[in-house]
Amino acid sequence: MTTAPPTTAPASVPVPAAQAIQRVGVVGCGVMGAGLAEVCARAGRDVLIVSSSEAGLTRGRGRLERSLGNAVRKGKISEAGREETLARVTYATDLGSFHDRQLVLEAVPEHEPTKLDIFQTLDKVVEDPDAILASNTSALPVIRLARATRRPEHVLGLHFFNPAPVLPLVEVVSSLLTGERTRRTAAEFVTEVLGKQAIHAGDRSGFVVNALLIPYLVAAIRMYEAGYADARTIDNAMTLGCSHPMGPLALADLIGLDTVAAIASALYEEFKEPTHAVPPMLSRMVDGGLLGRKSGEGFYSY
Ligand code: CAA
Repeated sequence: MTTAPPTTAPASVPVPAAQAIQRVGVVGCGVMGAGLAEVCARAGRDVLIVSSSEAGLTRGRGRLERSLGNAVRKGKISEAGREETLARVTYATDLGSFHDRQLVLEAVPEHEPTKLDIFQTLDKVVEDPDAILASNTSALPVIRLARATRRPEHVLGLHFFNPAPVLPLVEVVSSLLTGERTRRTAAEFVTEVLGKQAIHAGDRSGFVVNALLIPYLVAAIRMYEAGYADARTIDNAMTLGCSHPMGPLALADLIGLDTVAAIASALYEEFKEPTHAVPPMLSRMVDGGLLGRKSGEGFYSY
């Protein structure tokens, strides 16, 4: 683990111990929300997913079922384990259902007003004053989400990676107002309950991973846009030449081109570096609904 970023919140803020966190809420059931729900349910937690629409919930349930089917085929869990995991997950369309949650993971698209609204509501509906409210944001300032609540010391970022059931890292992001015990308990939950690896990161856009990853993806998109090389050539260069599991354009498709564009914009807003500026081709693909794997079309067809 890296050195913890500075925090000004008091060390004595009470939060539940990591193992005592049994009831988890997940806001959103897109690619990341469904992945987070799966990870927590596989760790034996009671998981309640809230999405704004029934249609969203149906798609999310489908994602969860497919992913668990995949895990059974790959020998990661048994058929009984799959059934038990699915039975631990319930679904609702009203954030008010989170009244008894001890930890809430927000995983909606990178749209700040939506996230602010959600944190404001979570603050009102989650009854346990010691509950931890976490965002899976990749690039937005955690402190703004914290300030939307009356309990900023209990708010932090828990940033997972796609596919969440497979990738071991979680960035634990403390804002200047995050309490030390919140940070410690959240990190313990990530490592001891979920069995993942945690690194601590400060509240700076992109944290560690995306600050390094996004300029690389943007550079690959610019190379493609300039007509220097086609998508397969660019991706083969990085899989065969650098042993990456997938090339940058295939990875952008996996992450979602809307998400890549949103993170790049947030990085650009924070640092004003040209390497973060969203390439015109990426903007037009997002405008056109070509979002990568989730829409069936991106740099490749699915
Ligand atoms: N549950 C548990 N394990 C699973 C699983 C599931 N549902 N599905 C697959 N697995 C396991 C497999 O069993 C396999 O494990 P072993 O190697 O131990 O056998 C491993 O996951 C790989 O799975 P597959 O063989 O099915 O697939 P693959 O080898 O083609 O790998 C991939 C697919 C994991 C996506 C790989 O290509 C990869 O790691 N790509 C890079 C992904 C990446 O960089 N993600 C980060 C994106 S950035 C981000 O998410 C943050 C952000 O803010 C944008």
